[in-house]
Amino acid sequence: MGLTLAVAGKGGVGKTSLTALIMRVLIEAGKKPLLAIDADSNSNLHEVLGIHEPRSVGCVREETRKLGDDIPGGMSKDRFMEYQIQASLEETKNFDFLSMGRPEGSGCYCMANNILREIISRLTSNYTFVIVDNEAGMEHLSRRTEEEVDHLFVVSDAAPRSLRTIGRIAELIDELGGRIHHKHFVLSRVHGDLDDLPATTKKELEQLPYRPEGAIPYDQALVDLDLSGEPLIKISTDTPSYKAVEALLKSAGILS
Ligand SMILES: Nc1ncnc2c1ncn2[C@@H]1O[C@H](COP(=O)(O)OP(=O)(O)OP(=O)(O)O)[C@@H](O)[C@H]1O
Ligand SMILES: [Mg+2]
Repeated sequence: MGLTLAVAGKGGVGKTSLTALIMRVLIEAGKKPLLAIDADSNSNLHEVLGIHEPRSVGCVREETRKLGDDIPGGMSKDRFMEYQIQASLEETKNFDFLSMGRPEGSGCYCMANNILREIISRLTSNYTFVIVDNEAGMEHLSRRTEEEVDHLFVVSDAAPRSLRTIGRIAELIDELGGRIHHKHFVLSRVHGDLDDLPATTKKELEQLPYRPEGAIPYDQALVDLDLSGEPLIKISTDTPSYKAVEALLKSAGILS
């Protein structure tokens, strides 16, 4: 069983960009096999990783529910879902990708969800690293009660309003207890050195239960890739954001 890394934080702070950067650094470090999971229902991780619109786990769940007992080919429900999830897995040269898709609708999905949990846990056990990009907030982690995360990266930009959400996220992480093995507070889109942050930001930082373990600089190269519609995973290894994420993974003990 490999390591599960997850990225969480308030909306728009740079979670998906950090996920893409982590993937790129792990690929450059020769870490294989890698699985990226998009757990954001308004997902766009596939785009920053250069993958076309994937079929999601949510679609498989919905299709299976609609079929009821009419599973084609006389397959069991478990086998059918496992087969469909395998078919939804996007495989690239350097990594595989799975999209969780939309959460379930109003019907009863307990059985499908139980089967899915087992299939996904079996699937993820095949990888050296599983990297999960989450939707904004932390409630999703409390919902997925059985999952363990080895390293959780909690991201915020330097705006006081974003930083204040870190306090609430910290409380939720405490409630999750031992399921989160290591947490790393990361500041994103930082202009200049941490010492040069505005006084209001420094004051907010002092109130927080965590000190920033890493700072991802504001990186024009990343913005330019985004604006040109290029996948962020193509970012050059000599850019400030790439180097910062490489240093972060080393200081977290994920890379040596
Ligand atoms: N280090 C950086 N330097 C410059 N711009 C950045 C950096 N990181 C992220 N951005 C920009 O910030 C915006 C939001 O980034 P991103 O989509 O990664 O955030 P998110 O937290 O995943 O958002 P959401 O909550 O909507 O999923 C994007 O336009 C991205 O290009
Ligand atoms: Mg995102």
